[in-house]
Amino acid sequence: MTISFDQAVRILLVDDKPTNLKVLSDTLKGHGWTMLVATDGVAAIEQAQYAQPSLILLDVMMPGIDGFETCQRLKAHANTQAIPVIFMTALSDTEHKVRGLEMGAVDYITKPFQQKEVIARVKLHLNLKFLAQELEEKNGFLTQEMAEKTAAESRLQQLAQELERKVAQRTAELSDSLEHLQQTQLQLVQNEKMSALGNLVAGVAHELNNPIGFLQSNLEPLQDYINDLFGLVKLYAKTFPNPGPELTERITAIELDFLEQDLPKIVSSWTIGIKRIETISNSLRTFSREDKEHKVLFNVHDGLNSTLLILKHRLKANRTRPAIQVRTHYQTIPEIECFAGQLNQVFMNLLANAIDTLDDISNTLSFEALQTRPNVITISTGLATEDESIVIKIEDNGAGIDEALQSRIFDHLFTTKAVGRGTGLGLTIARQIVVDKHGGSINVKSTLGQGTCFTVILPVKAKKA
Ligand SMILES: Nc1ncnc2c1ncn2[C@@H]1O[C@H](COP(=O)(O)OP(=O)(O)OP(=O)(O)O)[C@@H](O)[C@H]1O
Ligand SMILES: [Mg+2]
Repeated sequence: MTISFDQAVRILLVDDKPTNLKVLSDTLKGHGWTMLVATDGVAAIEQAQYAQPSLILLDVMMPGIDGFETCQRLKAHANTQAIPVIFMTALSDTEHKVRGLEMGAVDYITKPFQQKEVIARVKLHLNLKFLAQELEEKNGFLTQEMAEKTAAESRLQQLAQELERKVAQRTAELSDSLEHLQQTQLQLVQNEKMSALGNLVAGVAHELNNPIGFLQSNLEPLQDYINDLFGLVKLYAKTFPNPGPELTERITAIELDFLEQDLPKIVSSWTIGIKRIETISNSLRTFSREDKEHKVLFNVHDGLNSTLLILKHRLKANRTRPAIQVRTHYQTIPEIECFAGQLNQVFMNLLANAIDTLDDISNTLSFEALQTRPNVITISTGLATEDESIVIKIEDNGAGIDEALQSRIFDHLFTTKAVGRGTGLGLTIARQIVVDKHGGSINVKSTLGQGTCFTVILPVKAKKA
């Protein structure tokens, strides 16, 4: 590669002998280079520092500091250490040549000077110097480019991280909203279901009230009228001891004596029947209690009984199985502060699930087999050992739940039932009511093929939300 040297090329010639300086200047002029001269080492260093020559031709033997010392000082100074130095030494002086090179000189020129050799060596080292400069510049560019690239990469990485963080945040927000939406939907469906059922039940209870009222209020007069009529019949018999064949025949036909004994029994069984209808009506009202705003004191046994009453039609015997037996073991428990209507909803969901599983296994067993192993739902209540809570257990001897599924049964929309038979909301809602609304707990214990027991624990005193 050839370098075109411009005007800026300066060569510093250092020699104590003016004749030598003259010879060198004459040799090198005509190439467009500027010649600088110094006649001792100290002056040379000073000039080198401010004039920044492209090359220094340095004599070894000088008074004051010699060429080696001068070179050493030039190399020790940051400002001058990169300037190439060519020693000038006697032809035979090998020791000087080696020492000069060791001091950091790039080359040497032998005296007496050979013009062509001097020019060639100077050109070579100027060339090398400019190549080195160019390389350094390019290296500088490259380093800068690399730094810019690294900065860009790290910015990119930052942006990617930022993006990732934003995506994660947005995803979390979305899944929160989704969960919230699901909860709201769940609540809506359930509210709708329960309020429809509640309205129906409350309506029926209300409609029953009037007929119960007039049946009850007429019972006493009815009893009185019957007594009056029989009194009158007795008086007739006493006044007319021989009523004649037609009346005698009629008295025998209607079995007047039996009628007199049986009629009061019928009336008293009516009284019992009407009382029972009244109990049912009260139960229906208990079931459909409206208590959306405030918790009220509630007898859990009333809730369980009224729910059983609502489900009575499903407990009865049918074509595939005998009636499901319901065994209650109620202990004395205090009334608890709760949303009564909602608790009934929990009992309803748990009992409906128990009936579902008993229906399922009944389809796989014969009627006779079911008579020897009856379907049973056991409901027990009692006080919890820890703090002031009550425990309600609802147990069935149905199919049981596979252990792998037990952790999922409370999940939203988890069901193993056919479409139309189950939505997978029952237990989710039960847990929400027990845990979120009442600060209680609900757990399941189940053995496949043996049955399932749900345990609900509820605080007696309402917990502050
Ligand atoms: N007593 C039980 N015996 C056996 N499996 C049960 C019992 N209770 C619940 N399960 C299982 O848990 C699942 C979820 O019950 P959950 O009450 O939440 O929904 P579902 O009964 O399927 O439908 P829904 O109650 O909404 O009509 C049921 O599908 C069933 O597989
Ligand atoms: Mg259910």
